[in-house]
Amino acid sequence: MKKEKILLPGNPVNAKTPWLWIGTWSMGGEGFGPHDERESLKVLESAVEKNIRHFDTADLYAHGRSEYLIRKIIQQNREEFFISTKGGLAWNGRRVEHRASPGELETQMHESLKRLKTDYIDLYQLHWPDPEIPVNESIGALKDLKKRGLIRYWGVGNLTAEQVGDYLDKEKNIPHQVHFNPVRNKKEILAAGSDRCINCVISPLEQGLLGTGKSSLGKEGIGKNDLRAGNPLFSGQGVLEWNRQLEVLAGKKGISKVSAVLLWICSRPHVSAVIPGPRRVSQLRDILKFRDEIDKNALTSSDKGSSILSAEKVKALMPQELWHHLDKAPIDA
Ligand SMILES: NC(=O)c1ccc[n+]([C@@H]2O[C@H](COP(=O)([O-])OP(=O)(O)OC[C@H]3O[C@@H](n4cnc5c(N)ncnc54)[C@H](OP(=O)(O)O)[C@@H]3O)[C@@H](O)[C@H]2O)c1
Repeated sequence: MKKEKILLPGNPVNAKTPWLWIGTWSMGGEGFGPHDERESLKVLESAVEKNIRHFDTADLYAHGRSEYLIRKIIQQNREEFFISTKGGLAWNGRRVEHRASPGELETQMHESLKRLKTDYIDLYQLHWPDPEIPVNESIGALKDLKKRGLIRYWGVGNLTAEQVGDYLDKEKNIPHQVHFNPVRNKKEILAAGSDRCINCVISPLEQGLLGTGKSSLGKEGIGKNDLRAGNPLFSGQGVLEWNRQLEVLAGKKGISKVSAVLLWICSRPHVSAVIPGPRRVSQLRDILKFRDEIDKNALTSSDKGSSILSAEKVKALMPQELWHHLDKAPIDA
């Protein structure tokens, strides 16, 4: 049976590619090494210039500073933007805690409204399920916020395949943020949401490991206070070796590593949106180049399937060896 393509909610008129959102975690200036706030703002402004209108943030990111940055770009033409933010995780000193009871979610949502200086949020998500609170209760709170017109849509993040089955079985078109890329190949979570979720891929470049900067070297490329030091893949020898080979292979085949990774992700089944997190203008440029390649080669999926790009067309464009390498990455090594 052919599946209807799941549509993204609330597509703003001027969004050229509603499946491409820009994530602002690393733009807040906390945990990702040296930071330049003016450059982060420039990234956002340049993205807007290039008709990107979907931006993802969270109250957690850099203690709210990522939301403050977004506030700067949405004050004019608020209705042109689709802003997604989230609650359910909060700082306690230097530790992050789950806080996703209905009361806590409501409080956090109001704080996000203030930081963003807006009277509604387009998409408000449960950042992570709280082990102390039944997921249904957190979701109930989000539905209530929607009923009251404070948020336009509700969504979730980081659910397991089982939780998608258990808690979203009566739902349709629920945005779900899923950590997915060649080295986090959790196909089963995407598949579990195939008929009920808008799967939005987060950390597509595995926090920079699959990029081309110093962080692509893994732990030796980042400082010791960098939050990515806690990502086991940054010191996974199997992944690091595979990553070095990916760089060489992409170079030899004349395709940028970032484009190769994003093309692979966007042609996987049940992926509806991708949320990279460029924090420098040059990194945004890479992302826009990837978008241009899609346009130039007409790679968008035309069937009613649920991937963004046609896997057939991407495979025809990408050297077989490179596709195969992306497809056979060591997972979670
Ligand atoms: N719901 C959740 O739990 C959750 C979790 C994670 C992320 N997210 C969302 O997903 C977004 C993206 O995740 P992420 O920040 O981990 O994104 P990512 O795109 O996987 O990695 C971002 C890092 O990669 C490097 N980079 C970015 N663009 C690059 C390019 N074109 N070329 C080379 N390197 C590049 C930069 O690090 P260097 O400058 O150090 O190289 C940047 O800080 C977040 O901003 C957030 O909105 C949500």
